[in-house]
Amino acid sequence: MPVKIAFIGFGGVGRALAEIIEEKRSRLKQHYGLEAVVVGVSDLMKGSVYQPEGLDIPVLLKGLNDHGTVEGYPERAGVVKGWDSIEMIDHSHADVIVEVTYTNVETGEPALSHCRRALDQGKSVITTNKGPVAHAYKELTEKASEKGAFFGFEGTVMSGTPALRLPEQTLAGNTIYKIQGILNGTTNYILTEMEKGLAYKDALKQAQDLGYAEADPVSDVEGYDVRYKLAILSSHVFGVPLSPDDIPCTGITGVTAADIQEADKAGEKWRLIGTLDWNGGRVTGTVQPERVPQQEPLAGVTGALNAILYECDMSGPIFMTGAGAGLKETGYALLIDLIHYHKQQSKINV
Ligand code: HSE
Repeated sequence: MPVKIAFIGFGGVGRALAEIIEEKRSRLKQHYGLEAVVVGVSDLMKGSVYQPEGLDIPVLLKGLNDHGTVEGYPERAGVVKGWDSIEMIDHSHADVIVEVTYTNVETGEPALSHCRRALDQGKSVITTNKGPVAHAYKELTEKASEKGAFFGFEGTVMSGTPALRLPEQTLAGNTIYKIQGILNGTTNYILTEMEKGLAYKDALKQAQDLGYAEADPVSDVEGYDVRYKLAILSSHVFGVPLSPDDIPCTGITGVTAADIQEADKAGEKWRLIGTLDWNGGRVTGTVQPERVPQQEPLAGVTGALNAILYECDMSGPIFMTGAGAGLKETGYALLIDLIHYHKQQSKINV
């Protein structure tokens, strides 16, 4: 049975997933027996379109390109236009809601309401929005399990670099007692460009032009973005909820060119480090710029790359680095979730 998916929000990340599904169609079928059809798209700016048998993805993508609106999708029998997001969740018969709206990370809205609405109806949800997961991890994961639905959010930390599935699956059985990471690409880009002599504001402008920065870069440079990611990691890896507001946070705006030169002379690099300490079940977190000796792996992480270090009792330190932002990478994170949804469903249905 094909998996029916509906997009709530169809900006860059949603489109990236649609493109990946189209590009990888035969591989997904061959390797995983996964066929995905897009039954609906609902976007605040562009309108909504729905077709129970599945929309033609190239036509959909092209329609959006040519006309900047799903109204560009050709008239056909069965296409319903003009539904808003809630109606799409309620009526589309989608198995999986792909929640990729433009969301306020401080409140988690509108994504949080969309996740609740879909999970209440037993529909599965995959999202890259950090807000709902950072604020309501327990509520949403419990709701999903109560309703027999899948809730996937791999892309909320390090985009398509599997920072959440690594500890949960690959490192299963370890006690992880510390997590340290470079979890924001914008600030790492700025710091490493400043090492090359670029001024702070020029480096920030470049990070924005390259599409790494949040719509409001204050969230990046003041470290708030990392706090949300640490809150997600604390719930997911340690099973201990931690409010972003309970994580002391200092951003990189106070790091000067002189600080960077001074560290360089001492063989060190400034990095914005997010840390979680497990302490036998009482988790504490911090976000702050730190001088890292250049022989340490975190110092070698340059540009917009992210990295995470899991300190494990049996495996020892496990370090992973990779993209932490980018449309294709974030779209790929949704694909990881979709494949896992499908694997779970296939097991249930055999
Ligand atoms: N603005 C974020 C970053 C994007 O720079 O890492 C991913 O959360």
